[in-house]
Amino acid sequence: MTESITITDNRTGESLEIPIANGGVDAADWRKLLPGIWFHDPGLATTSGAESAITELDGENGILRYRGYPIEQLAEKSTFLEVSYLLLHGELPTQQQSDEWVNEITHHTYLHDKFRRKMYDSFHYDAHPMGLLCSNVAGLSTFYPGSKDIDDPSIRMEHAVRLIAKMPTLATSAYRHSVGQPFVFPDNTLDYASNFLRMMFEVGNPYEVDPAFQRAMEVLLILHADHEQNCSTTTARVVGSSHTDPYTAMSAACAALYGPRHGGANEAVLNMLDGIGSYENVEPFIEGVKAGNERLMGFGHRVYKNYDPRARIIKEAAHDVFAVTGTNPLLDIALKLEEAALSDEYFISRKLYPNVDFYSGLIYESMGFPRNMFTVLFAIGRMPGWLAHWNEMLDQDSRIARPRQLYTGEAERDYVAMGDR
Ligand code: SDX
Repeated sequence: MTESITITDNRTGESLEIPIANGGVDAADWRKLLPGIWFHDPGLATTSGAESAITELDGENGILRYRGYPIEQLAEKSTFLEVSYLLLHGELPTQQQSDEWVNEITHHTYLHDKFRRKMYDSFHYDAHPMGLLCSNVAGLSTFYPGSKDIDDPSIRMEHAVRLIAKMPTLATSAYRHSVGQPFVFPDNTLDYASNFLRMMFEVGNPYEVDPAFQRAMEVLLILHADHEQNCSTTTARVVGSSHTDPYTAMSAACAALYGPRHGGANEAVLNMLDGIGSYENVEPFIEGVKAGNERLMGFGHRVYKNYDPRARIIKEAAHDVFAVTGTNPLLDIALKLEEAALSDEYFISRKLYPNVDFYSGLIYESMGFPRNMFTVLFAIGRMPGWLAHWNEMLDQDSRIARPRQLYTGEAERDYVAMGDR
């Protein structure tokens, strides 16, 4: 059996054999036989937009690997900065490479003071932190005009380091602006996760980082670090393909992540659980979902048609946090909701399982994060993944993203004077 397909244009009887390679067929071959005929795939559900060596998903079997390493092993044994290095460089760092990488990131955590004052003070106190993050990531491009030199790989890496390093500072500044607290400057003696927690929660007295919180933060950031061609990563690649600078490309990715169908789901899950309110309301809510009146946030996935491996790991990590904080009262409702859904034909037939967002918010809330910060946490984690794909796309010298369309509008017609309309 040859690994190929044969297509025939029945209008002409002409046929063409196209090889199947790496799980796909090349549209350039398709164009030879059918110029002007487009694949119509608005949600890009059956379209490959890139060749990538960064992350591998197997949706049927619930497998996720970064550069070949299983997510379960990275979550257990690695750190977020090590995973960031892996995603961007393709290999786990040696001790020397790791020391240099951590030193680089640690010494780029500060924001220009004028940026910090002007960019935050211009927002209302109750501005959603994701709105600030999208704006501020783009605003950083005005401080680093040299980042436009995207043809130089060393320049790309220099600003990738800045973006990874500054995300916790941008995020915590957005939060502290929203609660009227003074900003806390980075402490370069702390590791990445501890520095982030301290900048979030230190008020007056020195903030003691609980080891369980530090490890939970590392695991959560690792789990969110990449996920192949998801909506926000595709956005980073599409916007980056116009050869804009990395700050504006990553700001576009932040904007895509903000949506409740994507990274905004973790915040939506907690609001959904609040709305359900009690055990007794779980079954009526499930019926509402099946009737199409509700959406079970934190469930379903374009790729995973099995349990999202990240959801399983987060569920385990939750116990370590709850051992410190006490269980989140909404956990019981979430567990009941999962149990009801996984045994119901509506969800089974549609292969709807918990995804990464179903349990993450419960941990974040128990750690003291307000719900409007949940997607910001997702963005901190996903930044290295976005940057790795942006970098890979530029290394591949990809063409500018410009899909075609199927026109369904009016045929040519003449202008109609106002009096004749
Ligand atoms: C993330 O792509 C990624 O990798 C994303 C992500 C990452 O790491 O980057 O994994 C992170 O975004 C996770 C997903 C978080 N979003 C949510 O939890 C929001 C709720 N989920 C859905 O909106 C939905 O499942 C999506 C958006 C995640 C996936 O949408 P698809 O692939 O377009 O699926 P679909 O909407 O075509 O649904 C197929 C069927 C439909 O039923 P029918 O029309 O066939 O009757 O399943 C139903 C949908 O109505 N369905 C749901 C459902 N999700 C799908 N029904 C109820 N509740 C849901 N959550």
